[in-house]
Amino acid sequence: MALYNDIVMEHFMNPKNVGELENPDGSGTYGSPVCGDMMQIQIRVEDETIVDAKFKTFGCGSAIASSSMATSMIIGKTIEEALDITNKQIIDALGGLPPVKVHCSVLADRAIKNAIYDYAQKAGKTYAALEGYDPNEDEDEHDHGDIEE
Ligand code: FES
Repeated sequence: MALYNDIVMEHFMNPKNVGELENPDGSGTYGSPVCGDMMQIQIRVEDETIVDAKFKTFGCGSAIASSSMATSMIIGKTIEEALDITNKQIIDALGGLPPVKVHCSVLADRAIKNAIYDYAQKAGKTYAALEGYDPNEDEDEHDHGDIEE
């Protein structure tokens, strides 16, 4: 049986939103404490709506598929809506990831939040979902436990 489903394979083979933005409104990076891989996500924001997003990663195929899906999910959403997206939703949109690859989707989720955090700092905005948020805090194990099959 194949390890990855067709949606994951499609986003891995033909990832969307790869690259960097010129003068992004927010830029976030996140390094996985699980595998040591890195993710960068940048966003362009107009009137509180994310109008573009790009990613670059040193992560694996699951990280590429997750970021392709996650950036596609946030484009067109308001900042508040984008902050509500969880890595479980990213995994669900991908039709599932093998349990050992769940942490790769966390890279995308955290890099998005870090990009929004950066935007909020630069634009002088506050969001309830970012209250007490620490962009450097390591993801802990409970998030992995929540999304077991
Ligand atoms: Fe590191 Fe997937 S193993 S991002």
